[in-house]
Amino acid sequence: MYCRSIVLENYRNIEKASIEFSPGVNVLIGNNAQGKTNVLEAIYTFARGKSFRGASDREIATIGKNEYFNTLNYEAEGREQQLSIRYYEGAKVRHHNRIKIDRLPDMIGRFRAVFFCPDHLSLIKGGAGERRSLLNIALSQSMPGYIKWLSNYNAIVVNRNTLLREENFSAKNKSQIEAWSLILANYAADIYMARKDYISRLEYYINLYINEMTRGAESVSLRYRCDIDDKEATKEKVIQDYTSLLLNNIEKEKNAKATLYGIHRDDIIIKLNGVNSRNFTSQGQQRSIALAIKLAEGEISRDLMGEYPVFLFDDVLSELDDSRKNYVLNALENRQIIITSCEKDLFCDDREIRKIYVEKGKYTILQ
Ligand SMILES: Nc1ncnc2c1ncn2[C@@H]1O[C@H](COP(=O)(O)OP(=O)(O)OP(=O)(O)O)[C@@H](O)[C@H]1O
Ligand SMILES: [Mg+2]
Repeated sequence: MYCRSIVLENYRNIEKASIEFSPGVNVLIGNNAQGKTNVLEAIYTFARGKSFRGASDREIATIGKNEYFNTLNYEAEGREQQLSIRYYEGAKVRHHNRIKIDRLPDMIGRFRAVFFCPDHLSLIKGGAGERRSLLNIALSQSMPGYIKWLSNYNAIVVNRNTLLREENFSAKNKSQIEAWSLILANYAADIYMARKDYISRLEYYINLYINEMTRGAESVSLRYRCDIDDKEATKEKVIQDYTSLLLNNIEKEKNAKATLYGIHRDDIIIKLNGVNSRNFTSQGQQRSIALAIKLAEGEISRDLMGEYPVFLFDDVLSELDDSRKNYVLNALENRQIIITSCEKDLFCDDREIRKIYVEKGKYTILQ
């Protein structure tokens, strides 16, 4: 899969632009605050469904405009496709190949991308939420059904928590909570099975990359930390386990006023050479693991969906040492990479680079 072009209108500091990409390595080059990350943000929004910066549509629309219109032309499954997002008069309309998309989850997975920026060190140093987001964003794109399970799951947790918080807790509340618990356990099991499979694939590919980057000196292990402990569990058994946890702890949850068990508490324990990478690894090692995670995400996406996603790398080149920089630019064959950089002189021995010069929201292809 690759992104042929993006057309942006009133998007952040870009009044109007049409940017054509090559299927290989593309570098958006320019000084600070010119509009490099804004392009990656716009592209990634088609994959993720919302801005990775957590910005509202009002903030995204060019100051003074309160509307924007982005169109992505991409190649997938051997044919040209198109996605568009139009924000106008406070409402957003999305189209796929000119057909209206009714619900946001129906857009996710059509165009897939892996996004990597220096903030991703938080995958290793940050809290469990960072790692759950990694799983959710990747699985939403690569596993049909996942995003719906997750949004249904989250909605039920909200309902259940409202009941748990009620001052005059009654037998009726309890029976409603029990009913929600049964449905919740089913979604939890679907998500658990997907995450468990994903984490074992992730571990495999991370090690391939880490092995190459460190010439066999380092190895990474991942452990799925969750509320149930069933190594060979079938989905039926997982449903049973979550059902028992939810039904047997209602009193405790009533006191805590929240749902205390489920996949919303999951984490991944990442170890490097047998020790927890959160506390014992250097910045450079954390960077390598974060890069390996992102490259692995791309491999899994290809395994599950048959084509590589697009790789969007924001500001990461300056953070990588020469051998890793070389690796990213040269070794990732058959993948489209769109990178931002302030450096003008980027070398790539084996692949041609399309350099796109960025200045004040205007984009010029240099070669
Ligand atoms: N809604 C908006 N309207 C107009 N300009 C905006 C809007 N949102 C952001 N900008 C501006 O867009 C400019 C470019 O932002 P961007 O993050 O793309 O910079 P960049 O080229 O990636 O810079 P850096 O190298 O510092 O990361 C910034 O000056 C920012 O203030
Ligand atoms: Mg930037």
